[in-house]
Amino acid sequence: MSRCASIILAAGQGTRMKSKKPKVLQELLDKPMLEYVVDAAEAVGSDPIMVVIGFGGEQVMEALGDRVEYVWQREQLGTGHAVMMAKEHLAGFDGDVLILYGDTPLLSVETLSALVKARQESGATAAVLIAKLDEPGSYGRIIRDAQGNVCGIVEAKDATAEQKLICEVNTGIYVFESGPLLKALERITPVNAQGEYYLTDVIKILVADGFKVTGMVTDGAEEIMGPNDRIQLAQTEAYLRQQINRRWMLEGVTIVDPESTYIGSEVTIGRDTTIYPGTFLNGKTVIGEDCVIGPYTRIVDSTIGNGTEIQFSQIMGATIGPDNQVGPYAYIRPGTVSEATVKFGDFVEVKNCRIASGSKVPHLTYLGDADVGANVNIGAGAITCNYDGVNKHRTIIKDNAFVGSNANLVAPVTVGAGATIAAGSTITKEVPDGALAVARSRQEVKVDWRSPKERVKKTDN
Ligand code: UD1
Ligand code: CA
Repeated sequence: MSRCASIILAAGQGTRMKSKKPKVLQELLDKPMLEYVVDAAEAVGSDPIMVVIGFGGEQVMEALGDRVEYVWQREQLGTGHAVMMAKEHLAGFDGDVLILYGDTPLLSVETLSALVKARQESGATAAVLIAKLDEPGSYGRIIRDAQGNVCGIVEAKDATAEQKLICEVNTGIYVFESGPLLKALERITPVNAQGEYYLTDVIKILVADGFKVTGMVTDGAEEIMGPNDRIQLAQTEAYLRQQINRRWMLEGVTIVDPESTYIGSEVTIGRDTTIYPGTFLNGKTVIGEDCVIGPYTRIVDSTIGNGTEIQFSQIMGATIGPDNQVGPYAYIRPGTVSEATVKFGDFVEVKNCRIASGSKVPHLTYLGDADVGANVNIGAGAITCNYDGVNKHRTIIKDNAFVGSNANLVAPVTVGAGATIAAGSTITKEVPDGALAVARSRQEVKVDWRSPKERVKKTDN
């Protein structure tokens, strides 16, 4: 494909969202709408990608960082004015320019590539993405000449009664040759019902100058959904979620209840994995094959090995090995890496730990900043005391060690291979390989002991 740049319009507030955030930062599943558009622009190979910002522009810059270039539009004087703001960024660029909206997150890469191809193959200077709607409402209407070529776009507010009947509408997505676009933009005026600089006016200017404009009709009307309020936001998300879930089901994943399963667009899932209801898979999560995930589980930016089962748990920023058992009610935090057949049981919190194969952390435990060897057993209620109030320290527990119930391991400390920690011990010093460490007071048994009550009874007699 020849060079292509993208300009994403994202300066509007979206007042009907009634939000402190600009509309384009409202989230669908696990990321802002605008990110979906940037993803699509990247996927068709556009470089540079320019985002036109205005309302809440700083928030947009913070959300996207240096992934894109920013163009300020301080006053929203119309879509044509917004594109004009990018003029300097396009100096010397002579490829295709894609115009996208930051609030149409469902637009597919396939549709975008097809539009770019449609312009190139027809030899037109511009291609407009068109939708056919039974109720064209407030969309701009597509005007065609006697040969069926696109010769203009009329905004609903400026349309005649006859034009209003046209069901072919402007999606607002276009591809232009850069040079003619910039020249035409200089000639648009805000003389219309809304007093705005309309990007749509560029079409009739190009046609008047003898350039050809083509239209491509999309059959997926949902793809151009641009939610204006939170009801439409939920509808858009429901559609996106359904698309994603269907794709994974067709790939061999069992989703017991797609209505209550939330899978982000960047997640991947292996075959024969089953997902139970109430499950959220977010970020760059990778789930292996033959896993059982859920019910009621949230996994963010984590990798889960084949055959692992996770229920009623939360996992973030972790790499869980194959054939692990997690939950119910486990909380696995960033930096945790487990090898094969590790068990994380109920009410277990693990942070920044490496746990080798076959080890078990079955219940009521906190492990933080620990290196746990293979086949280690951590008893109920055992914890690592990794924080001295200022610094975090590591705990090392070597292969085959047995940590008794309710032990406190005060880091930095090492428990040797095969060592045993007696239940209830507070360990502050290194325990050598194979040793038993008991760090608690001895039990005393007083056989002839009488309770005060009994003593009182005796004197009464
Ligand atoms: C525009 C089109 C209309 C099309 C519709 C599709 C024009 C004149 N009309 O109408 O033909 O059917 O989109 O949705 O282009 N924006 C800016 N700066 C501005 C104005 C808008 O960044 O000064 C951004 C908005 O944030 C939004 C997008 O451009 O993301 C579209 O703006 P909007 O006001 O919704 O366009 P419409 O009037 O609906
Ligand atoms: Ca408008």
